[in-house]
Amino acid sequence: MKLGLDDVVAAETILSHVDGEAGRLIIRGHDLEALAGRVPYEEAVAMLWDGLVPSSGSDLRALIGAARVRAFARFAPMASHLSGLTPVEGMRLLLASLPDTEKDHAALAVGAAAVAAAMAVRGARGFSPVAPDPSAGHAADLLRMLRDAPADEGEAAALDTYLVTVIDHGLNASTFTARIVASTEAGLLSSVVAGLCALKGPLHGGAPGPVLDMLDAIGGADKAEAWLDDAIGRGERLMGFGHRVYRVRDPRADVLKAAAARLKGRNNRVAFAEEVEWAALKALAKHKPGRRLDTNVEFYTALLLEALGIPREGFTPLFAAGRTAGWAAHAIEQERTGRIIRPQSRYVGPWPAEAA
Ligand code: ACO
Repeated sequence: MKLGLDDVVAAETILSHVDGEAGRLIIRGHDLEALAGRVPYEEAVAMLWDGLVPSSGSDLRALIGAARVRAFARFAPMASHLSGLTPVEGMRLLLASLPDTEKDHAALAVGAAAVAAAMAVRGARGFSPVAPDPSAGHAADLLRMLRDAPADEGEAAALDTYLVTVIDHGLNASTFTARIVASTEAGLLSSVVAGLCALKGPLHGGAPGPVLDMLDAIGGADKAEAWLDDAIGRGERLMGFGHRVYRVRDPRADVLKAAAARLKGRNNRVAFAEEVEWAALKALAKHKPGRRLDTNVEFYTALLLEALGIPREGFTPLFAAGRTAGWAAHAIEQERTGRIIRPQSRYVGPWPAEAA
C-alpha cells in the first residue's frame, strides 16, 4: 500500500500529461510552452474543453464574459459576509452558493471563479466588489475587478500567461478530489468547490503566499544560504520547492519566471528570488542528497503575482480561478466513465473480542 498513492494510475484522461522525468507538461497535445504567453486564456480553455464540454464550440470569450456578469449578480448581495474570512474561504462561500443545475455550467464555473476570487480578496480587506466588464478579456477583467483599476497590456498579458500555465496538471490532489466528487454525480459546481477545498492547503495551492514570507524572512541574498541551511536543518519544508511527480525542474517555473521578469520595475523581486533559488537548491542538495528537489510552480507564481500588486492572501484564489477550467473538464470526463471512485482501505484496528 502507498500512503500517498504515488504512481497509482486512477484515471484515463485526454486533458493533460505530466512527465516528471523529462520536466514536460502536455495539455491536449501541446507543450505548455507552446500555449502559455501565446494564446489567451479563453482560447486555451476552448482547446482544453474541445469535444468534451458542450459549450467548447461556442464563442467562449463571450460566454465566459456573460458568466462573469451572471455570477456577479448572484454574489453581490453576499459581499457583506466576506469580512472575517480569508479570501480562499470567501471564494469557497461564494462558489458554494451556485446551484449545480445552472446551464452552461462549465463556462459559468470559470466566469464565477474569477468574480469570486476578486470579490473575496477585496471583501477580506473590507473593499466593495467591482462589477465585471463582459467585453474585456478574462485576465484583464480579473485584474481590474481585483484592483479596481484597469490593467495595462503587459500586466494583463502576465496574468493571462499565469492562468494558462495553471489550467490543468494531471491528477494532482485537487483534480483527483474534483473527479471523486464528479464520480458520485454530485454535479460540476460541487466538483469545483471540492477542488478548491483541496487546493487550499499549503502542500498544494497554498504555497505561494508562504514563498514571499520566506523571502521576507531571508531579507537579503547574502543571508540566503545560512537561513535556508538552518531552516532545512530544523526539518522545515521550503515553500516553492519539491514535487511529487517532477524529478527535474517544474516546466511551469521557467514560463512564470520569464513572465515575471518582463514585469520588471513594478514591485519586482525576481532577481533576488533567483539568488534565493540557487542557494535553496544548494542547501537541499546538501540535506537531501538522495532526492533531487527543484523549484516548483509556486515559487515564481509568488513573484509574478506580487509584481502585479496582488496581496499574497489572494494567490490561492487566483490559482483556483485558472485551474477551474481543468477541474470542470475532469469532472465531465470522470462522470462520463459512469463509475464511482471507491477504493479500499486496510483495517488495522482492533477486532471485537471473540465470544468466550
Ligand atoms: N523542503 C525541504 N525538504 C523537502 C521539500 C521541501 N520543499 N520537499 C520535500 N522535502 C523532503 C521531504 O521532507 C523528504 O525528506 P525525508 O526523506 O528526509 O523525510 C524528501 O524531501 C522527499 O520528499 P518527497 O517524497 O519528494 O515529497 P512529497 O512527494 O511527499 O511532497 C510536496 C511533495 C508536498 C510538494 C513537498 O515537496 C513540499 O512540501 N513542498 C513544499 C510545499 C510546496 O511548494 N507545495 C506546492 C507544490 S506544487 C503544487 O501543488 C501546485
